[in-house]
Amino acid sequence: MTELNRFSKTLTQEVTNPAAQAMLYGIGLKEEDLAKPQVGIASTGYEGNPCNMHLNGLSVYVKQGVTANNMVGLIFNTIGVSDGMTNGNDGMRYSLPSRDIIADSIETVVSAQWYDGVIAVVGCDKNMPGAVMAMARLDRPAIMVYGGTIRSGHYKGQKLDIVSAFEALGKKFANNISDEDFKGVIQNSIPGQGACGGMYTANTMAASIEAMGLSLPFSSSYPATHEGKQEECKKIGAAMKKLLELNLTPKDIITKKSLENALTVVMALGGSTNAALHYLAIARSAGLPLTLDDIQEISDRVPFIADLKPSGKYYMEDLLGIGGVPAVMKYLYSKGLIHGECLTVTGKTLAEDLAEAPDLNFENQKMVLPLETPIKPSGHIQIMYGNLTPNGAVAKITGKEGMTFDGEAKVCEHESEIITMLSKGEIKAGQVVVIRNSGPKGGPGMSEMLKPTSAVMGAGLGDKIALITDGRFSGGTHGFVVGHITPEAFDGGPIALVKDGDRITIDANTRQLTLHISDEEMAARKALWVQPAPLFTKGMLGRYIRTVKSASEGCVTDEA
Ligand code: FES
Repeated sequence: MTELNRFSKTLTQEVTNPAAQAMLYGIGLKEEDLAKPQVGIASTGYEGNPCNMHLNGLSVYVKQGVTANNMVGLIFNTIGVSDGMTNGNDGMRYSLPSRDIIADSIETVVSAQWYDGVIAVVGCDKNMPGAVMAMARLDRPAIMVYGGTIRSGHYKGQKLDIVSAFEALGKKFANNISDEDFKGVIQNSIPGQGACGGMYTANTMAASIEAMGLSLPFSSSYPATHEGKQEECKKIGAAMKKLLELNLTPKDIITKKSLENALTVVMALGGSTNAALHYLAIARSAGLPLTLDDIQEISDRVPFIADLKPSGKYYMEDLLGIGGVPAVMKYLYSKGLIHGECLTVTGKTLAEDLAEAPDLNFENQKMVLPLETPIKPSGHIQIMYGNLTPNGAVAKITGKEGMTFDGEAKVCEHESEIITMLSKGEIKAGQVVVIRNSGPKGGPGMSEMLKPTSAVMGAGLGDKIALITDGRFSGGTHGFVVGHITPEAFDGGPIALVKDGDRITIDANTRQLTLHISDEEMAARKALWVQPAPLFTKGMLGRYIRTVKSASEGCVTDEA
């Protein structure tokens, strides 16, 4: 076992730090334990969010599996922020920054404590990219365990999830729901533990990280309360042992090709636009080149085939019934869309893993369609450019809302304004609603727009207006939306210069976002523009404003 104990031996066998040895005895280890590999088990568990409430319990199962395989498992916690609970309020400013705090804190504990490997038990949107960024930085054997998707809620015969709650608000504005039913939806949308149940950001990241090779097969498919989730946790110890024996590290697993596999699964499943942001960041943490244009290239060749929420009919819990993510990947691999030679945390190639996966049956299910008859022949994530977004933006175009939108700008200086405008009937069909000052620096924290977009849907305007922003969208967002506009308004990007009534065209065919004013008018407006003072100069958000890169650079915070 000594050769497995590459890092922690500094604290133990070589007796370079007797205090460390004494402390290890102090936490209850025996002499024979000191020669064993030490595995950090990073949990983002906390009580205040359904996505995270069960993760500390799952970590105990993980520890049992680690101990059973003659290693020392040491649980530690890092933070989490609930996107569902922060959407639409100032707490959302902390959501994206929480990804980097998670990455920093896992890097810090594993490096400082000299753990030989790390297992991250994670559940909510930012937990997963944060954990994977840390794994890439650390490059020690690592496995991610997803806490699992939530089961659907039910009210009056309808299946519900978190988006149902937001859309109920829009229905309330439009007087389309009774007080009793509004309360019924709110009280029954979330039946217990697990991450938000559609192909929203958490399930998108879980599925694609499994495709990238950093989770065991089916990790993204078992719901939080499924018995398979506990079984997975108990199997992790054996998998970690094998990774240590093989010295197989994240940089062996995270490669340009495995990033392409991850993004291929995002496109096929109709995943969240946040995946673009997070994979740009994960690639940078791994020292790999990945650009918005690479993401577009994958979108160009991978059809959107899964009828999952938010734009579709089915929930993530339903996917397990047709073979889960492994069955989808096996199908994509059979069609030449997945690189099978990539290594995974099983210690095998992805092709070897997929050989054991079930087959998709197109006769008995309509949830995942054949590539020949897709929902959309290319990916729904489209990278936009144009005079409104010279450095790129990320659009979600499923095709269900059409491919072009042309309308007059209605400017909101803050996302909260759209709720007020909606309640006063000031948002009209045909408008392009511009929500600015929501970027990584200007927000700060690049807030998600789930509350505005859900309220728009609930008000019956979902297919009648478009929404563009330098903020982000929740994975739960659907409709004609363009986000991640760069440069952001805080940096003087053209989005800062839009005025009410300007004509804007979103063309998903040419991938151009155009503000119909002359170059001279644009220059004249820019000459009058004054950069706003940062909303925060101290504390975490003050530091975030000073360190965060643009959305087109993944909003990373650890680069000069
Ligand atoms: Fe955690 Fe939605 S709030 S996944």
